[in-house]
Amino acid sequence: RRRVAVLISGRGSNLKTLIDAEQDAYEIVLVASNVEDAPGLDFARAAGIPVFAKSHKGLKRAEFDALIDAQLRAHDVEAVALAGYMRILSEGFVEGWAGRMINIHPSLLPLYKGLDTHARAIEAGDHFAGCSVHIVTAGLDEGPVIAQARVPIMPWDTPDTLSARVLIEEHRLYPRALAALTRTL
Ligand code: GAR
Repeated sequence: RRRVAVLISGRGSNLKTLIDAEQDAYEIVLVASNVEDAPGLDFARAAGIPVFAKSHKGLKRAEFDALIDAQLRAHDVEAVALAGYMRILSEGFVEGWAGRMINIHPSLLPLYKGLDTHARAIEAGDHFAGCSVHIVTAGLDEGPVIAQARVPIMPWDTPDTLSARVLIEEHRLYPRALAALTRTL
């Protein structure tokens, strides 16, 4: 089983599904956060997974990322899954994990990189929204997509109702995509 770290900043619902779905392909050996009191950290603690939580505030981006990187190396991590990690990563960090780091993004990439994806999809009058898992490269939300799921947008949707529909698909998609990636390593 490949040794995986999950990086989060908040709620951690995707982290929870990655923990619950853990199969033959990977084991989560570390959960790291740039938000010290991220609620999702409790899912890691409940599962007995080591946690590294430290605020990025006051540190340069590359300095903070070096701290995370040191933790990953110390835990012999082989692959990284970003799960609601709301911080842009430095180029050096991304290069160091090239081909071994994935992210889940709440849109049908290449549509709607960045924030407020659901509001933008509704505003555009789209009929479909969804989520994408992609390999992390230097450009924000730009790496090759390895898995995608689609949901309809209803006429009455708000960003919240749409986000809830997409999140169900995220929770199905991400464990499979992580397993698929780790099997190729
Ligand atoms: C998820 O919807 C994820 O796709 C999104 O943040 C949410 C985190 O939820 N990620 C991004 O927007 C990345 N730019 P979670 O903490 O409950 O997994």
